[in-house]
Amino acid sequence: MTDVIDPGAIGRRKLLQVSGFAAAAAACSNLVPTRGGQKELQDSARRSEPTASFAADVDISLRASAKQVGILPGNPTACWAFDGDVLHGDANTLEMPAPSTYLGPTIRVKRGQKVRIRFTSGIPEPSIVHWHGLHVPAEMDGHPRYAISQGQTFTYEFEIRNRPGTYWYHAHPDRVTGAQVYRGLAGLFIVNDAEEDALALPRGAFDVPLVVQDRLFDGDNQLLYSNRGMQLMTGMLGNRILVNGRPDFALRVSTRAYRVRLLNGSNSRIYKLAFRDGTPLVVIGTDGGLLERPVSRPSLLLGPAERVELWVDFSERSVGSRADLVSLPFDYPGTPAMGMGPGAAQGAPPNGSAFNLVRFEIDRKEPEPLRLPDRLLDERPFGLPDAADAEHPRDFPLFMNRMRWTIAGRTFQMTEAAPNERIRLGSVAAVRFRNESGGMGMMMRMAHPMHIHGGQFRVVDRRGPTVDGLLDLGWKDTVLVMPDQQVTLVMPFQDYEGLFLYHCHNLEHEDQGMMRNFLVGA
Ligand code: C2O
Ligand code: CU
Ligand code: CU
Repeated sequence: MTDVIDPGAIGRRKLLQVSGFAAAAAACSNLVPTRGGQKELQDSARRSEPTASFAADVDISLRASAKQVGILPGNPTACWAFDGDVLHGDANTLEMPAPSTYLGPTIRVKRGQKVRIRFTSGIPEPSIVHWHGLHVPAEMDGHPRYAISQGQTFTYEFEIRNRPGTYWYHAHPDRVTGAQVYRGLAGLFIVNDAEEDALALPRGAFDVPLVVQDRLFDGDNQLLYSNRGMQLMTGMLGNRILVNGRPDFALRVSTRAYRVRLLNGSNSRIYKLAFRDGTPLVVIGTDGGLLERPVSRPSLLLGPAERVELWVDFSERSVGSRADLVSLPFDYPGTPAMGMGPGAAQGAPPNGSAFNLVRFEIDRKEPEPLRLPDRLLDERPFGLPDAADAEHPRDFPLFMNRMRWTIAGRTFQMTEAAPNERIRLGSVAAVRFRNESGGMGMMMRMAHPMHIHGGQFRVVDRRGPTVDGLLDLGWKDTVLVMPDQQVTLVMPFQDYEGLFLYHCHNLEHEDQGMMRNFLVGA
């Protein structure tokens, strides 16, 4: 007996149970007598229409709908996917990441641009789109309280204020984010600007964004999904690696340098990136864009929602050879027990298992005009002294309580923020996440990729057991907190008031309530 279900066909019944709950929660969210409840109702009504005074540089329509996608040989896979059109502005704003994929179009914008995105939901449960890593007003951030139903439209309008970098967007409704993202509702959101353009980095065909995800398929090529039983604890794990939505991903490259942008778009799988032949990884950027200078690492752990940008130089390789980017095996607590879960029965290896990710096939010789710059983007130093509460970071222990993952023992309430979740607008907050899995037995020891909405932070301290492959450099919006580790970060909360989520980006942990609000206010 297994509770792994097929969201495409036979499992629809089970999915709908969860969905009905979410629908009820979303419907109620407009009615609960919380602070600002009435205002929200009016605001969300207004948001179906564009604002006349907002002069959009790019105006996009984005739709979520059911789609049959050819992924594996044989039958197509029932997915939910975004597709989009540019209504006004640069037609190159949208680009499909692969010819046949469930991923949404890659959105490419420039810093300073005003963007309007009209999201229309064509799926039979509440949904909303979140712009992961972007610094946008709270009402434009895709909070689950703004979820819309099938046939409705939510119009986003915001200015791009982020540093150039690799961001992404995905569905974010209450309790069913994991299921919706798993079915395909995600895409990349890439920002650049003139300063970055002035650096001689590979561009065009030499700038390659890659979304790495794992999925579990049944014998009929349909996606299997569960957020209960063992998956409640571990999150959903798959047995097939898809890159940009494609299996057995290979890329033909020339003897040149490439900018490879990697997003771990998996629900709960962590990868330990490395080249099979031991070639070091040259890191030029993380979640919030370029580093000050490149750094070299033998391998890198990439948790769900994290991004890393690599400078990959094939100039010394010979035509006809190949370079394999893999995920190395790593120690992960609880692995033996997890290996017996229902996912494993279906063939999903536990976290920490080895995988092939991308095969680069060097197929032609081309002269390389570029050299790796020693300096990338300069930054004012920013750290703990900048935080108002540097001496006493807000403390959030992460542990399981009554068979649910929690943040400080609390779970998600749509519009609630506790006293230590209130942040003064314009301040820099120090936040400490403590993974308290210790002593609770193997089953309770899990990594938590902790994510904060509304912008980017710096990791200033990490304590506890040393784990190979972690990289705490640059601006981040998601940080992997390994079992028994404590991570302190500092984050500016500027420009925008309101509710900004923070949560575990293991999407099954998030959906069971390992998510809370920060309330940013005067
Ligand atoms: Cu990538 Cu709250 O999400
Ligand atoms: Cu986010
Ligand atoms: Cu978690």
